[in-house]
Amino acid sequence: MDRPPRKKSSMNNVPVDFSFTVMLLGDSCTGKTCVLVRFKDGTFLNNNFISTVGIDYRNKIIPVDGKQVKLQIFDTAGQERFRSVTSAYYRDADALLLVFDVANRLSFENIRNWLGQIKDFAKDNVMVTLIGNKCDLAPQRKVTIKEAQELAQFYQIPYLETSAKTGQRINEAFILTARRLMQQSMGTKADKSQSGVIDLVTTEKTWGQTCCYEA
Ligand code: GTP
Repeated sequence: MDRPPRKKSSMNNVPVDFSFTVMLLGDSCTGKTCVLVRFKDGTFLNNNFISTVGIDYRNKIIPVDGKQVKLQIFDTAGQERFRSVTSAYYRDADALLLVFDVANRLSFENIRNWLGQIKDFAKDNVMVTLIGNKCDLAPQRKVTIKEAQELAQFYQIPYLETSAKTGQRINEAFILTARRLMQQSMGTKADKSQSGVIDLVTTEKTWGQTCCYEA
């Protein structure tokens, strides 16, 4: 499989100020592809589960704090049999969105294993965010917000609950990641609300006010 080129300056003649690689990781069927499709196209792949084979990627340019930020987003297969292929790409990632399904207990319990994989294969300073996806499935929930927050707090990573189905917090997950990466790359320390565990209630904001460029 060919690796996509890493462009630093522009895409489709849209000048960019920053360019980062973000990777989606997590168990199969947690919704990684749907999260990416929702962010990229604003749509939801309902009842259409086609497991990712190996790795795929999409590009998107988003405005963040007055800067144009290109995100090259890799969607990895969650199935174990692709692990040796996908782990070879971890080192390319500036940030990782580690996804579990709030209605699937095992996918949450596997998060520690994923963090072990990240430690083994990703860059030391890779920026990790824990994502509890499918939060629209409230009646089927098997993981409480509190225990997910505690796990995130233990590893000092932000936690966000998303729904690719409704779109809840999908843009926020990527914008937050882009902002933290910009701050890291400019050598400025992220403020407390962006470097610690996200308070799910008080940080609710509208992120959809900006337009995005397609790759
Ligand atoms: P792999 O490619 O095997 O790693 O799976 P994946 O993590 O990419 O999962 P995918 O995005 O293909 O979604 C799996 C199933 O979950 C699909 O049937 C989706 O419709 C469903 N799904 C994804 N996100 C959500 C969500 O936020 N809410 C609900 N209710 N269903 C979702």
